Amino acid sequence: MRVLGIESSCDETGLALFDTERGLVADALHSQVDLHATYGGVVPELASRDHSRRLLPLLESVLAEAGWQLDDLDGVAYTAGPGLMGALLVGATFGRSLAFSLGIPALAVHHMEGHLLAPLLEPDPPAFPFVALLVSGGHTLLVDVEGLGRYTLLGESIDDAAGEAFDKTAKLLGLPYPGGPHLAALAQRANPERAACYRFPRPMLDRPGLDFSFSGLKTAVLTATRRAEAEGTLDGEERAAIAAAFEEAVVDTLVRKAERALAQQGRDRLVIAGGVSANQRLREALDARLSPRGARAYLARPALCTDNGAMIAYAGACRLESGQRTGLEIGARPRWPLAELEPATHG
Ligand code: KG4
Ligand code: ZN
Repeated sequence: MRVLGIESSCDETGLALFDTERGLVADALHSQVDLHATYGGVVPELASRDHSRRLLPLLESVLAEAGWQLDDLDGVAYTAGPGLMGALLVGATFGRSLAFSLGIPALAVHHMEGHLLAPLLEPDPPAFPFVALLVSGGHTLLVDVEGLGRYTLLGESIDDAAGEAFDKTAKLLGLPYPGGPHLAALAQRANPERAACYRFPRPMLDRPGLDFSFSGLKTAVLTATRRAEAEGTLDGEERAAIAAAFEEAVVDTLVRKAERALAQQGRDRLVIAGGVSANQRLREALDARLSPRGARAYLARPALCTDNGAMIAYAGACRLESGQRTGLEIGARPRWPLAELEPATHG
């Protein structure tokens, strides 16, 4: 089955072609970073307008890359939520209408299911069941995954998502949008001895349970930054030290909660997905901490951790292959709990 995937839930337009026989055959992305940079964050109306400008050229580009015609498509999958309503509607309208005009089935994909399944696009994918840690700009979720669409929520952030914490802290440190990758790059340049002078809280680790809280961390960083400023020590090196200590606190919290979830569920496979899973320090820490326990972390390559069309094409292809279809209505759900998804038989 040959499926077009369309992602437009936030500030990236991603299109990809997935063939259930051959795997991923084309993948194209347009990032709106430059468009939103001047505003220090995503401007929803500008995002929607840009998606509508980019979709057709990107479709032409993936078809050319694969050497396919529109007629070669057997299905269209598009992100229908969660995300920005206007941005979602652009992709949903485009995808649903294209499928209708070609007389082929369409599938409305849950963005976080796309993330969750992205590591399965890699060689040596994990078998079900596994625990998934989903860390993006809008969500931090620990999920028990028994199969496609068979998800049990184990824990989530009660305030900021992990990516949001990176972005807000980056802003505090004077770094440009999007903050996460900039903060990670700054942290990499830190002198470990200076970073060790800071120890930020690991929220909710001292309590049982699998929920997260990240909003207190940015206050801790703010306090530390102000103190260093008042003492006249807030140079580039000090900022890097603070960034590294912040990153360490987030990584430590995520890894320890993930270990706890694996133990609770009696699983030894952990899937980590979403934009924050591109973080190098997190990837190293997971490897170091899970292997001695006989557990293993499964991650996608960094380009498939952040938003992309490939994960939507793949999630859509799995569901379409299992016989699921989305009706003719064009809909989008800015809020959409993952646990509401229908199970599917594939995989
Ligand atoms: O999954 P994603 O691309 O979009 C959403 O669904 O939200 O995640 C974006 C989030 C942003 O908060 C971004 O700062 C963060 O992922 N992120 C990172 C890194 N790359 C992206 N955070 C830390 N380190 C990174 N290398
Ligand atoms: Zn995402």
